[in-house]
Amino acid sequence: MAKAGDDWHIGVIGGSGLYEPGALEDAQEIAVKSAFGEPSGPVVTGRIGGRRFTFIARHGAGHRLSPSRVDYRANIDVLKRCGVTDVLAISAIGSLREEFAPGHFVVVDQLIDRTSGLRERSFFGDGIVAHVPLADPVCPRLSAMAAGAADKAGATVHQGGTYVAIEGPQFSTRAESLLYRDWGAHVIGMTAMPEARLAREAELPYALVGMVTDYDCWRDAGADVEVAEIMRTMAANADNARALLAELGAALPAEREASPIDTVLDAAIVTPRDAWP
Ligand code: ADE
Repeated sequence: MAKAGDDWHIGVIGGSGLYEPGALEDAQEIAVKSAFGEPSGPVVTGRIGGRRFTFIARHGAGHRLSPSRVDYRANIDVLKRCGVTDVLAISAIGSLREEFAPGHFVVVDQLIDRTSGLRERSFFGDGIVAHVPLADPVCPRLSAMAAGAADKAGATVHQGGTYVAIEGPQFSTRAESLLYRDWGAHVIGMTAMPEARLAREAELPYALVGMVTDYDCWRDAGADVEVAEIMRTMAANADNARALLAELGAALPAEREASPIDTVLDAAIVTPRDAWP
């Protein structure tokens, strides 16, 4: 558990192109084992603006893992074991709103889980029962700092938005896309759940910066989502994403004040300690 006055240590889950050897000072790859499975790929740690950042490429080196195959528990567990205090997720998202245009960044503040239940979504259940609150699944403090950093980096940023997480790997049907709009969702992706749930269970404040790559398929009766379009927009956005991290490293205050999320398990575990396996 992070304590008041600890140094910041940001775990970044995102694409492998997010850091450059020059931008990440003292970069080193570290081997960390998880009790929950294999993390997606190499764990790389270093400093940006004097603050520690540790990276995991969510889909693995060479983008080999589909959203359903990512071991979200192992990724979060490994970051926790590295001493990460907060998690910043960066991912490609589709837009369900006209005003969230491709190239824009969205700092998400709500999540709807439409994944199919195949993904392991809890660290608990084997003899220890815990119910963490998830009404507000992201950390407002880290989200605000990420939005400020994205703005300083020159990106067009939307602060707040509801993300619907689908199982994939296929994109949505047009009827689904229209339904998610009716539900009030703003953006769509395939990875934020169960990542955000698990970060909460690991007592890690979590923020999610989505980079809009497409308009999904609600907008135009003839249009479909194309991977080539997503890849093009991601590549065009990579500099902004790296600049965001540089700005965030520079903006993090010297000391990290405690967050209520750091101790969320204190009130969430219902199995008495003497009954733990
Ligand atoms: N990731 C990027 N664009 C997406 C879309 N339209 N649907 C789901 N995930 C996405």
